[in-house]
Amino acid sequence: MTELVKIFDTTLRDGEQSPGASMNTAEKLRLAIQLEKLGVDIIEAGFPAASEGDFDAVSQIAGRLKVTEVAGLARADKADIDCAWGAIKDAAKPRIHTFLATSDIHLEYKLRMNRDQVLAQVKDAVTYAKSLTDNVEFSAEDGSRSDRDFLCKVFEAAIAAGATTVNLPDTVGYAIPNEFADLVQYVMQHTPNIHKAIVSIHCHNDLGLATANTLAALAVGARQAEVTVNGIGERAGNTSLEEVVMALRTRNNYMPLHTNIKTEHIYPTSRLVSMITGIMVQPNKAIVGANAFSHEAGIHQDGVLKNPMTYEIMKPETIGLNANKLVLGKHSGRHALREHLKDLGYDLSDEELRLVFDKFKALADKKKHVVDEDLEAIVTEGVLRTTETFSLEYLHVSAGTTVMPMASVQLSINGRSIKGAGYGNGPIDAAYNTIAKLTHTESELLRFTVSALTGGTDAQGEVTVRLKENGLVALGRGSDPDIITASALAYINGLNRMEYLKSHPIERAQSL
Ligand code: KIV
Ligand code: ZN
Repeated sequence: MTELVKIFDTTLRDGEQSPGASMNTAEKLRLAIQLEKLGVDIIEAGFPAASEGDFDAVSQIAGRLKVTEVAGLARADKADIDCAWGAIKDAAKPRIHTFLATSDIHLEYKLRMNRDQVLAQVKDAVTYAKSLTDNVEFSAEDGSRSDRDFLCKVFEAAIAAGATTVNLPDTVGYAIPNEFADLVQYVMQHTPNIHKAIVSIHCHNDLGLATANTLAALAVGARQAEVTVNGIGERAGNTSLEEVVMALRTRNNYMPLHTNIKTEHIYPTSRLVSMITGIMVQPNKAIVGANAFSHEAGIHQDGVLKNPMTYEIMKPETIGLNANKLVLGKHSGRHALREHLKDLGYDLSDEELRLVFDKFKALADKKKHVVDEDLEAIVTEGVLRTTETFSLEYLHVSAGTTVMPMASVQLSINGRSIKGAGYGNGPIDAAYNTIAKLTHTESELLRFTVSALTGGTDAQGEVTVRLKENGLVALGRGSDPDIITASALAYINGLNRMEYLKSHPIERAQSL
């Protein structure tokens, strides 16, 4: 019998700390529902004390999920813990996750506390959290750079006060696999009451070792892995859910451990996270990258045709990667669309279905084969982004080898139509200049990327942009068969996210 590793997903909390990756409440709720379908054991839904928006998103997720535990993050103080509890108390399975740093460098420069004060605060915070719920996790921030014996004392105090999970983070991504495994083993051997809690690990990827460190810790007895989908997160990101889950599954002969993840939902979940956050997956990313299952070399292709196992250690179907299926055409009806969206995990209201159906028909007129990726894009752009300041009503560009590129644009700004025209050194530049003028925004375009959602010359173009304004960074994403329209949609989406960031100051940047 293999042992269970609990998967604690923090895409909505640590993942959301990726630069520019803010999500609105509808997007967070949709992702939480998908994560429950994927089978994660715990969803860290957010940091309720960080902002009203976070509190609201966490409480909506807590009220919605039936099976998965919902964790709210809190600093180790009463006010934060009260706030987290306020947001998660109606969850079927609530968990308070409280944390305090334990490394000398954090104690001296950030907290200005000594070790005794930290011990006392951990004891008080966990005792208080435990008075609200039985399910309490304590994290020793910067644990991997902490004094080992002090770390054991802190965990001992947390467990004595009622923590049922103790988490050892490699907050700055500094650890090396053997060293990290050795630390986990040391903590397990030198914390007298450790058998009363689950040992968890939480790694960051600054040296590209987050997955390796996580697996090394699981090999010596940790039984909860904290991860994010696509490995998104602060700086170089967090441990990637799909890498840990598929490593455990593929190398079960070496590590007799299993997870509750329904792996066939990995790829759709990865796509959803990219769609919602605007952070595209690099093509060579393990498991979910576009090239992860494609074989270029002739010798490999020949081998795979004879027997896939010659060069494939996993089957693409295992992660839910199907060749683009022809799903619907322009004669498909509303009922077929509703049923197909249900299969993809989108249970839409009548009003939402009406919106999606209209967009689907418009797309089916331009593009013969409407596949799952197209539908996902329609739902993400048409339904999840409901509270938008700016939306595109009309775009016309003229460009060519002999004319000055010009764009006419009509936008809806807070429900009011406004139009204008402008020039640029190309059609996209002209459209962007005009949109900036109409919205009175001054963002700098840091990055602009174009790709295709699927194969084929009639594929939808997918554009992602990275914008910067007054120190804030926002990502935007748009898709359309017309690449100029996709570019305008991506820019407008980025501007909407920028508006969202302006009205939701990210206090967490200072607090973590
Ligand atoms: O990286 C970290 O230390 C964290 C903790 C709050 C768990 O994200
Ligand atoms: Zn973290």
